[in-house]
Amino acid sequence: MAEVKISPSILSADFARLGEEVRAIEEAGCDWVHVDVMDGHYVPNITIGPAVVKALRPHVKTIMDVHLMIAPVDSYIEAFADAGSDIITIHAEAGPHLDRSLQLIRNLGKKAGVSLNPSTSEDVLKYVLDRVDLILLMSVNPGFGGQSFIPSQIEKIARIKDMIGDRDIEIEVDGGVTPETAPACVAAGATALVAGSAVFRGGKPEDPSVYKANIDAIRQSVAHI
Ligand code: DX5
Ligand code: ZN
Repeated sequence: MAEVKISPSILSADFARLGEEVRAIEEAGCDWVHVDVMDGHYVPNITIGPAVVKALRPHVKTIMDVHLMIAPVDSYIEAFADAGSDIITIHAEAGPHLDRSLQLIRNLGKKAGVSLNPSTSEDVLKYVLDRVDLILLMSVNPGFGGQSFIPSQIEKIARIKDMIGDRDIEIEVDGGVTPETAPACVAAGATALVAGSAVFRGGKPEDPSVYKANIDAIRQSVAHI
């Protein structure tokens, strides 16, 4: 049975009640909390900054999985580290020197992640594999929740699993993950799944049972793999 981490994206949460939402998804049994940071430049949407990540930190008892959709990103990495991120993931295209940016994240004592857009080849990972703790594969174009899963990314997951070999690197898939799309991701090698709309739909923070049912449905969909 696959032990897959579920990382709900708070992009689909009620932004006026983020602390309660984080407590509710943790009560519902998530493994990590996925925080989507968008700059209105690298992606066509704007979300939150380090001040909100810092405000959320005391509410997160699991792992704060911070996905930076910012370019250029380097000058913001330290602020997100200080805000209490556990994992800081940057996009391969988010600066001129990916190797240097990943070293900076690790030197700040954080797990370093690199994210690939659907059109980005896994080749960019070849020379940084010993610098990363997590590879975040976008299965939608970044910027919005609720988009449809792009099936061509399944093949990329499998290729990256081969590239990683026996290194201790998580393969996280982000975008359009549902009980329908999760099994192919996990069968190809995904070890962590981000889900925004598939976790938050139909729920409210005062009743975590809906979030629990949604998380359990994703877990059950991959239990046989
Ligand atoms: C998209 C974000 C995702 C998004 C996932 O740019 O990185 O984390 O919130 O949302 P769903 O699961 O609804 O596709
Ligand atoms: Zn994300």
